[in-house]
Amino acid sequence: MSVIAVVNQKGGVGKTTTAVNLAHGLARKMNQNGGGRVLLIDMDPQGNCATALGVNPNGRCISQLLTGHRSLKEVIIQDTPQTNGGTGRKGLFLIPSSERLVEAIEELLIRDFQSHRRRRASDSLDNVLSQRLGSFRNAFDFTVIDCPPSLGTLTEAVYEFSDRAIVPVRTAMLDATGAAQHTRMINELQEAGLDISVSLILPTFYEPRQILAQQVLRDLAVEYGRNRIAHPIVQSVVVQQAQAAGGQTLFEYEPAAGRPPTIAYGKLVERVYNEQR
Ligand SMILES: Nc1ncnc2c1ncn2[C@@H]1O[C@H](COP(=O)(O)OP(=O)(O)OP(=O)(O)O)[C@@H](O)[C@H]1O
Ligand SMILES: [Mg+2]
Repeated sequence: MSVIAVVNQKGGVGKTTTAVNLAHGLARKMNQNGGGRVLLIDMDPQGNCATALGVNPNGRCISQLLTGHRSLKEVIIQDTPQTNGGTGRKGLFLIPSSERLVEAIEELLIRDFQSHRRRRASDSLDNVLSQRLGSFRNAFDFTVIDCPPSLGTLTEAVYEFSDRAIVPVRTAMLDATGAAQHTRMINELQEAGLDISVSLILPTFYEPRQILAQQVLRDLAVEYGRNRIAHPIVQSVVVQQAQAAGGQTLFEYEPAAGRPPTIAYGKLVERVYNEQR
C-alpha cells in the first residue's frame, strides 16, 4: 500500500512516461512474485495515460469519482484483456482522465466554498482524493499518480493522499544556471507539501556525454543527498517510438528491450518495489 505521486510543475519533463512505465513495471514485478494490484491514476485533463497504454477510456474519467457522481467501480479500467474493455495488462488498473476534470475541479471549488460557509470542513477539496479513494487504499499494492504540470487547487489533495513523490527533472538542454532551476523548483514543491526525505528525484532526458548534464546530476546529489537521486533515464528515441507503436510501454515494445531507458525504468521499478512496500 504505497501511493506515489509523479510531480513537477514543469511541462514535458517525463512525468507521464515515468508514471506509466513505473505502474506497468510494478504490475509485472508483482506478477513475477505471486501477483498483486497496481493502480495508475491520471490526474491530468490531457488524459495521456490511457493513450500511452493504448486503452480506450470509454467515457470514464476521474472527474466523476471526485465529484461523487460515480463509484470507483464505475470509473476504473480493470486489468482484463482490452477486448473486454480492460487495460490488457494483468495487475494493472487505470483511472483515466479527460478534459472534464477541469469542470469538475470548478464544481469542487464551489462546493468547497459553500461548505466553508456552512463550516463543514469534512467536505473539502484538500482531501478529496482521500475521501473518494481512502477506503480502497488497501485494495492496491501500489498506486501511481500522474500529475499535470499545473496541479493548482488539487495540490493539497495529492500530497495528502500520497506517501511519497517522484520528481522527474529534465537534465538536458538546460541553460548555464543548471541545477539552480531544479533546486528552486524542488523547493517550491517542498513549500507545497512535498516531503523530500521520502521522495526521489529522477533525472530524465539524460545525455551521459553532456558535461552540463553530468554537472546537474552532481549538483542535485550535493543538494539533496546521493540516495535521493534515482538512476537517470537516458534520452532516447525509443521512448517516443514505443508510444507511437499504438501505446506500448518500454517493457512490452520489443525494440526497447535491453535499451538504456528500459533498463533505467527497470531500476526505478526495483527501487520502488523494494523501498516502498
Ligand atoms: N527519456 C526520454 N527520451 C526521449 N523522449 C522522451 C523521454 N521521456 C519522455 N520522452 C518524450 O517526451 C515527451 C514528454 O514526455 P511526457 O509526456 O512523459 O512528459 P510530461 O512531464 O508528462 O508532460 P506534461 O507536463 O505535458 O504532462 C513525450 O513525447 C515523451 O514520449
Ligand atoms: Mg504528462
